Amino acid sequence: MQYSETEYKPDPPQTGFSPLPITVSRMQVADIPHVSHLERRCYALPWNASAYATEIGNSIAYYTVAKDSAGIVVGFAGMWVIMDEIHITTLAVDPDVRGKSVGERLLLDMLEAGMERGAHRATLEVREHNLAAHNLYLKYGFEDVAIRKKYYSDNGENAVIMWANDLYSADYQEKLKTYKERLFPMGQPSRPAVAGQQL
Ligand SMILES: CC(C)(COP(=O)(O)OP(=O)(O)OC[C@H]1O[C@@H](n2cnc3c(N)ncnc32)[C@H](O)[C@@H]1OP(=O)(O)O)[C@@H](O)C(=O)NCCC(=O)NCCS
Repeated sequence: MQYSETEYKPDPPQTGFSPLPITVSRMQVADIPHVSHLERRCYALPWNASAYATEIGNSIAYYTVAKDSAGIVVGFAGMWVIMDEIHITTLAVDPDVRGKSVGERLLLDMLEAGMERGAHRATLEVREHNLAAHNLYLKYGFEDVAIRKKYYSDNGENAVIMWANDLYSADYQEKLKTYKERLFPMGQPSRPAVAGQQL
C-alpha cells in the first residue's frame, strides 16, 4: 500500500471489510481514567488526566470516546471549534483494534460535529513519520500545508500542519457521503448525545 505525500489513493474495494462495532459518545468524567490509560499506550507525550477534565468543561471543545460492544473505551478524539475552524487536538485508537475503522469513525464524527457548529475548514498537526495518521487525514481531504521543525520534544520529530479547506464544497461532501455509506451501510447512527441532548 503506497500513498503519495499529497494525494490519497484508496485501495480497491475489500471483500473482507469489517469495521469494529462501536458507539461514539461524548467523553464523560468517568471515561477519563480509561482515556488516560489508553493515551499512555498510544502517545509518547500523554496529557495530564486533569487536562481532559478541563476540556470536558470547555465550551469550544468537543471530546468523544469510542466504546466497543462490551463498553470498553477503544478510542478517543477531541477538537476545538474556533470561529469557522475545527482544530483537532487528539485522536487515538487502542493498538489492539487498529485497522478496523475506529479512527475513521472518530474523525468523521469530529468533522460532522464541527460542521454542525459552523466550521468550514479543519486543521491538525501530525508527526512527520506517522504514516497511519497521515494517511487517514489524506483520505479525509487534509493536505500538507507547513512543517513545524523539531516540534515534538521527545524525539525532535517535525510536525506537519494539515488543512482541509472548504468542507461544504460539493466534492468534499461527496467524499464524506461515499465514506459514510461504506462505514454505515445500514444508515448512520444518530449524533452522540450528552445529558440527553444532541451535540
Ligand atoms: C492513526 C490512528 C488513529 C488510526 O486509527 P485506526 O482505527 O487504526 O484507523 P482506521 O482503521 O480507521 O483506518 C482509516 C484510514 O487510516 C489510514 N491507515 C490506518 N492505519 C494505517 C496503516 N497502518 N498504514 C497506512 N495507513 C493507515 C488508511 O488511510 C485507512 O483507510 P483505508 O482502510 O481505506 O486504507 C491509529 O493508528 C492511532 O491511534 N495511532 C496512534 C495515535 C496517533 O498517532 N494519533 C494521531 C495523532 S495526529
